Amino acid sequence: MKINNWIGWWVSTVSVFVMIAPGSLHAAPPAARGIPGITAKDVYPTPCVDCHTRQPDGTDARLSTLMARWNGQADPKRLSMMQAIAPKGVTLKGKHISLGSAVKDIPASCAKCHTPQSKIAPPFAALIHVTHLSRGEESRFVTVYQGDCTHCHKLNKSAGTWSVPSGAEK
Ligand code: HEC
Ligand code: HEC
Ligand code: HEC
Repeated sequence: MKINNWIGWWVSTVSVFVMIAPGSLHAAPPAARGIPGITAKDVYPTPCVDCHTRQPDGTDARLSTLMARWNGQADPKRLSMMQAIAPKGVTLKGKHISLGSAVKDIPASCAKCHTPQSKIAPPFAALIHVTHLSRGEESRFVTVYQGDCTHCHKLNKSAGTWSVPSGAEK
């Protein structure tokens, strides 16, 4: 008698599943999260110079300003992150040359010095990824801007190719 009840319970539970499961396949899928350029508006089409601007709150986040702070007295923590990706045998000074006319074409001008083969400068892709993403929630790029790849990497939807558009500082 007891055993039969258990069997009955299993049979009815299983049949409930069999009835519900196919139904759930037809339920509406969850809404996509807002991915810039994919499911949400891309507000930084020329990424580096559209996001690194004078902010509404007065903060000057332009790259010419940020890079001028690499004057040999930069935060040792940030310097050690850059040292970790420096070319073999190079000890970084933590002092950057003035960007000068390089501000007219960011990031293309940066990438000309920061090549994967450079003997003196950290390679660009690593430098940019470490700077924005490696510190997780300690990075304002991850918190304020949600860390999206597509803030920088733009998808050509028909060709399926990626690019990082370049432009002049504002
Ligand atoms: C959507 C906004 C956004 C975009 C796009 C963006 N950045 Fe940034 N970037 C940030 C934020 C926010 C930080 C500060 C991260 C932190 O909290 O340390 C930062 C930090 C940096 C730093 C470190 C500055 C320093 O003081 O050492 C550099 C260099 C930099 N960005 C260059 C670039 C370049 C080059 C591009 C384009 C390839 C780019 N960024 C695209 C938001 C952005
Ligand atoms: C003319 C060549 C040149 C150009 C252009 C250039 N860099 Fe550099 N960059 C270097 C060299 C060389 C170093 C290593 C400096 C050192 O020893 O500290 C460096 C280092 C850095 C560092 C690590 C911090 C430091 O000073 O060591 C960051 C961040 C950086 N560059 C970002 C950029 C960005 C962003 C751009 C474009 C807006 C840019 N660089 C353009 C040559 C260049
Ligand atoms: C702040 C700007 C920025 C963000 C955010 C960013 N990238 Fe990049 N990435 C670059 C730049 C600049 C390059 C070098 C230029 C190029 O390859 O077009 C690059 C190059 C790359 C490359 C080829 C070179 C390499 O590193 O081997 C890969 C792969 C890549 N990114 C993946 C990602 C992924 C995945 C994310 C998100 C988790 C991401 N990137 C987020 C700017 C960014």
